[in-house]
Amino acid sequence: MTHKAHPRPYDDVLATIGWTPMIRLNRVTDGARTPIYVKAESFNPGGSVKDRIGIALIEAAEAEGALHPGGTIVEGTSGNTGIGLAVAAAVKGYQCVFTIPDKMSDEKVRLLRAFGARVIVTPTVEPDHPEYYGTVARRIAEETPNSFLADQFYNQVNPDAHYRTTGPEIWEQTEGRVTHFVASPGTGGTISGAARFLKERNPDVRVIAGDPEGSVFAGYSRTGEVGEGAAYKVEGIGNDKLPATLHFDWIDEFRTVDDHTSFHMARRITREEGLFVGGSTGLIVHIAVEIAREVDDPEACIVAILCDTGERYLSKVFNDEWLEENGMGDLVDRPESPDGPEER
Ligand SMILES: Cc1ncc(COP(=O)(O)O)c(C=O)c1O
Repeated sequence: MTHKAHPRPYDDVLATIGWTPMIRLNRVTDGARTPIYVKAESFNPGGSVKDRIGIALIEAAEAEGALHPGGTIVEGTSGNTGIGLAVAAAVKGYQCVFTIPDKMSDEKVRLLRAFGARVIVTPTVEPDHPEYYGTVARRIAEETPNSFLADQFYNQVNPDAHYRTTGPEIWEQTEGRVTHFVASPGTGGTISGAARFLKERNPDVRVIAGDPEGSVFAGYSRTGEVGEGAAYKVEGIGNDKLPATLHFDWIDEFRTVDDHTSFHMARRITREEGLFVGGSTGLIVHIAVEIAREVDDPEACIVAILCDTGERYLSKVFNDEWLEENGMGDLVDRPESPDGPEER
């Protein structure tokens, strides 16, 4: 798999995927003594952690003979995997067809189309509904000649890509000092693959998963039963069914966080750290700060995943009207002085 190595000229954009910077958080930690570093996946060329699996899924399919020249890549995506696949497909000359639930931001749909993909927006429905985005993608793949379904929720190439890249990078960038790893599963590829690598190196590394309120993962981890899911606004993480790519064995603990807390932290990270991030990163960093306070040890080392860029959520997390319409108007900034010039 293509993996960034030297700051020399690159042969193509795919060679810039990975070796994302690890950056210390200094202000949103509110004085906690335990250092927190984020692995800034927004530095990937497609702007998210999913670039790692885009190229990995395509190269594995090519090697297996499941994807042929001029072929079509089909996937159900919350957006970022589609963008990761589209980046690699552009370089390699494949077509793309993506299904995406209508809950996801307009920016993601526009980005996928900008890369030349055909995008089908599906209703946000339960997994057993025939219009569920994963089911529609499967149907399109069956009906499209010379096509390949990337299948990120089942294809073990997904966690394996993180075992081979994200995990080793975290280990090397912290020189083996990482003590806590915080991420949030959508497919579970990132947390399962990276956690497996880190625990193989040091079984004492503690792995904490964030789960949005309404997702079934946290409840399942405690009871072994899949409960009823409920709607939530954070994108790309949680689910109301269990993906085959989420390996609970490598995760020590789940913590549930609501939309408001996630978005509040995403906005703080942007303004106080200069890192433009989305809601899933806000959720993860909220938990990382909780852990920093609990651990209270300057020798410990918390690493959290920064999943993607806030530019993808300008119409939502960073849009005052949207926040007000969704009952989170208290996150909106109100000008100090009512006499100042009117803001646009
Ligand atoms: C914004 C965002 N954060 C986090 C994730 C979770 O990553 P994974 O699917 O590897 O669990 C995703 C997955 O789509 C995502 O889009």
